[in-house]
Amino acid sequence: MSIVVTVDLAKLQENIWKATKICCAQDLELVAVVKGLCGHINICRQIIQAGLTKLADSRLHNIKTLKQAGIDCEMTLLRPPSMDEIDDCITYVDTSFNVDLDVLRALSHQAQLMCKEHNVSIVFDADTHREGLKGNTLQQVCQEVLELPNLQLTGLAIYFAKKETDSEYFQKEAELVKQVRAIETEFGLSLPTVSVGSSGAFGSFVRTQQIPEGINQFRVGTGLLLGISSSVGPEYIEGFHHFVFTLQAEIMQIIHDGVKNRTAVLHMGRVDVELAGLIPTDELSVFDITSDHTMICLGERHADLAVGDKVTFGVNYYSLNRLFLSPYTQVVLV
Ligand SMILES: Cc1ncc(COP(=O)(O)O)c(C=O)c1O
Repeated sequence: MSIVVTVDLAKLQENIWKATKICCAQDLELVAVVKGLCGHINICRQIIQAGLTKLADSRLHNIKTLKQAGIDCEMTLLRPPSMDEIDDCITYVDTSFNVDLDVLRALSHQAQLMCKEHNVSIVFDADTHREGLKGNTLQQVCQEVLELPNLQLTGLAIYFAKKETDSEYFQKEAELVKQVRAIETEFGLSLPTVSVGSSGAFGSFVRTQQIPEGINQFRVGTGLLLGISSSVGPEYIEGFHHFVFTLQAEIMQIIHDGVKNRTAVLHMGRVDVELAGLIPTDELSVFDITSDHTMICLGERHADLAVGDKVTFGVNYYSLNRLFLSPYTQVVLV
């Protein structure tokens, strides 16, 4: 195949061990967010073999694939189920993140029909630019969840969709703990899981080693898989491997326009990757991409490259996702 993604399992394992060590030092449970792998069974197995016991994904389809393949660890659905996924959510998901009462009522109804208990975590919105509930609504929804049969309210969660400063992460995480304590006092209970997510927040935690008391879970995807805290940029997390996944694309033509202007056209395009999501190695620069072709500037370098050779890139999260979804990609584990 003209596009190959090579997965360095030793590097992946080291990223997981490193993140686990950092989290354990502050009594945080680490959950691997595997949505970038689009339900890749063997890599998810490796993540579990590296010592993690909980996986999370935003797509029910991926969780179903993993569970049906016999991966039996606890799995969290990060994006609330759509109305036509309620049945599968109760069947395959251990904990789902939620923000809407109609969905929660539907989950409760289905759980009763299937005689199952289902765990739910409610997402708190601290101006974090995505789904979630603010203060008063959060309390009302939690109250109703507590009354809904066959649902267990297991905790609150926060997700940072945009990059924040170190102090903003800390302050918003502290706000989450405050909301948890208010709910615990109001309803006389204890919520077992107070969960923070995003590699931006994780990168900040690795840097500062500071997290408010009361947070007990970190959900990390991009940081574990790619060692970066923001996909666009990219911003590297110190001490983590950044080239766990490398992409090799084959050269289909070399255009000689004088010695200095040599261009290679690759068997790869927007259908496979996004331009901003290619991290060139070997001092190559990408200057254009169409649906099925990518043009890279060789200049005077790499005089030895010929048609049929492969050029290597690192990838960001979006490209990784697209490559794993694509039938045109061959995934090789080493
Ligand atoms: C709710 C939630 N938590 C955690 C994550 C992990 O984020 P990241 O890949 O930045 O680590 C995601 C990813 O989008 C998410 O949607």
